[in-house]
Amino acid sequence: MRVAGTVQVPGDKSITHRVLLLAALARGMSRITGALTSLDARSSARVLRQLGAGVSPLRQGAVALVQGRGSFRRPIEILDCGNSGTTTRLLLGLLSAHQFSATLTGDRSLRRRPMRRVTAPLSTMGARFIERNGDGLPLTVEGARLQPLSYEMPVSSAQIKSAILLAGVAGEVPVAVREPHGRSRDHTERLLRSFGYPVVEGDGWIRFSPEGRIEPFDIHVPGDPSSAAFLVGAATLAERGELRISGVGTNPTRIGFLEVLRRMGGQVEIENTTTSFGEPVGDLRVRPGALRATEVVAGEIPGLIDEIPLLAVLASRAEGITAFRRVGELRVKESDRLGLIAENLRAVGARAEVVSEDLIVEGRQRPPRGRVRTAGDHRLAMAFAVLRTLPRAEIRIDDMACAAVSFPGFPETLRKIRRRS
Ligand code: S3P
Repeated sequence: MRVAGTVQVPGDKSITHRVLLLAALARGMSRITGALTSLDARSSARVLRQLGAGVSPLRQGAVALVQGRGSFRRPIEILDCGNSGTTTRLLLGLLSAHQFSATLTGDRSLRRRPMRRVTAPLSTMGARFIERNGDGLPLTVEGARLQPLSYEMPVSSAQIKSAILLAGVAGEVPVAVREPHGRSRDHTERLLRSFGYPVVEGDGWIRFSPEGRIEPFDIHVPGDPSSAAFLVGAATLAERGELRISGVGTNPTRIGFLEVLRRMGGQVEIENTTTSFGEPVGDLRVRPGALRATEVVAGEIPGLIDEIPLLAVLASRAEGITAFRRVGELRVKESDRLGLIAENLRAVGARAEVVSEDLIVEGRQRPPRGRVRTAGDHRLAMAFAVLRTLPRAEIRIDDMACAAVSFPGFPETLRKIRRRS
């Protein structure tokens, strides 16, 4: 199989959520081009409408218009965040500073995901939470006049960090956070700096002071590197050719997977780098490469957390044994990703096991064959769809439609880059 062409990927999911939330908090009209229009992005748009913002329908290729009112108004109905953990956790931060109560829920996958990791620090700031299902959703938040906070996070997580920073923004109080190991994505910090807020980093701490102001803005959202990763993976496994993916965000806190892939023998270059609204953007040029195993250490994990399903699938085709260290966080993603990566790799004839918090994958040469159970997890579906591009692969994926959570049109794009000759 040959790979060819130049493609674009949908807008960055993390940046889309953040700009929608911030635009809803500004007073006036913001214009967003390149926004992701996937199911997760629509969840953010939907709940923001319930909170009083005017958000135009998110349509591919159209400018998204957001009419913010400076703050949120009390929602009449329950806020359904669908499958989106980012919507939920970032919104909990903002709602903590609004003096009304709101109840959040989500789909089956989201309802089982832990929320105390954000409600604990937000409670210290003064918000109140009423749990309706233990450490999960539904959950009611009662906002308050917030207190400043300095918080050492128990896990490295951009969602926890952003919830606290956004509580600082909406509550107009200083906050400081520290991540235990590795740096999680820093889009919130970059955006807040662009609104004039001091967000200062030093001795492992990120310190925010409420000395800026969210004004209406015009922004372009770059392509999502986490979506591009699947196409990079397919191009790496191809036999010949070259693929270009243009306009992809290359924020260093997001492209840890490229470094690991290069270590494994992957052939990826970043070209035509520019900066757009404080975020680096470039084109990726990928050629097929023979892969060898590597060790991915704990400090690298936050910078490639969403790419582990894809890297694990690639590791199953690499020579040797690859280890992903301390990846327990994957148990609380859209599915028990850790267990399901290993289970599904074994189901298609590869060798994989979870040893304590580590994922161990041994590379094999024979064609992958078997059935994949995604539990509705978009990244598992796309990772195994990449594995299915191998010659003589026979893989049945129980739910490919879930790719639309983050990458609308993924099956079509994957088809488009492949050539028979
Ligand atoms: C995200 C942060 C990550 C990531 C998720 C999006 C974000 O979660 O897995 O897909 O936009 O902040 P954690 O911060 O909980 O690791």
